[in-house]
Amino acid sequence: MESKPKPRKAKTNWFCYNSNYYKSMSSGDEDEVEQKKTREFMAKYMANYRAHRKGMTPEEVADYYSHWADTQQYDLDLEPGVYNGPTIVAEEVAECFTEKRDKVRIIDLACGTGRVGEELSQYGFKSIDGVDPAAGMLKQCLKKNIYKHVYKEFVGDKTLSIEDGIYDCAVCSGGFGEGHIPCSGLQEMARIVKTGGLIIFVMRKEYIKYVEEYADKLEPMISRLEHEHTWELLERREVANYSFNRDGVLFKLKIKRSGPAADSATSKNDSTVANTTSTTKAGTKKAKEDKKTS
Ligand SMILES: C[S@@+](CC[C@H](N)C(=O)[O-])C[C@H]1O[C@@H](n2cnc3c(N)ncnc32)[C@H](O)[C@@H]1O
Repeated sequence: MESKPKPRKAKTNWFCYNSNYYKSMSSGDEDEVEQKKTREFMAKYMANYRAHRKGMTPEEVADYYSHWADTQQYDLDLEPGVYNGPTIVAEEVAECFTEKRDKVRIIDLACGTGRVGEELSQYGFKSIDGVDPAAGMLKQCLKKNIYKHVYKEFVGDKTLSIEDGIYDCAVCSGGFGEGHIPCSGLQEMARIVKTGGLIIFVMRKEYIKYVEEYADKLEPMISRLEHEHTWELLERREVANYSFNRDGVLFKLKIKRSGPAADSATSKNDSTVANTTSTTKAGTKKAKEDKKTS
């Protein structure tokens, strides 16, 4: 005789890290399993939180990530499901570039261990370079053999050792946060992307308000540079469960004027915009050779 299937208990959402929530939802053995999941989740959450502490300098941030990447712990902690930025951004790029993907030149800013590149390569993108200041992250990234060149540099006020207007698309997932890429980094992205190319980036929604560098600055800067014809804001979309069950925001900008000319949009009254100094092509080429690590 066939036994009747037992009614299933509703699955608890383990992304919720409030342990009282679990106590109210489960009991007995299940309680123990859920509590273990909560503890694991909290450990990951704290590892990520420690990369975003208020007042961290860019160097401290890069050092922290370097150590976190050791023994692949970063990839283990920020696994898909917990952190979904790379999937979200790659999906968007794939929607925008549907043909000859192997020829599309992409630069991944704050590439870290190469998670975005891994996702992009699954869509057939092959020409991917990366920039990140954390040696430990880049070490893991290079092991994956996806990126053609990686540059160990900070994205921000300084001009990267990359020529003007050479990429079809700049992507960034998780590169914006306390002590991470400043607003000026966006102008640098505009410099290295071709006219008509795209910048696609995703970040945690809360940071737009509570990271001082971005509060009342990031979005006004995007609007102002749109007004000044550096780019056109094609999309600003909120995305659910970007990381740790928190919402993210995806921005998509189309470059209207590539190269250091983007600097001319710098308003004297706006401290958030880069003091980017443009370098000659010969200069950038030389620096590029020096800094290329793969
Ligand atoms: C949350 S991780 C994201 C890494 C990768 N994009 C991913 O999705 O897994 C943040 C990355 O930003 C990098 N980062 C921090 N500040 C940066 C800066 N000013 N310029 C470029 N990268 C930066 C860190 O080294 C780290 O690899």
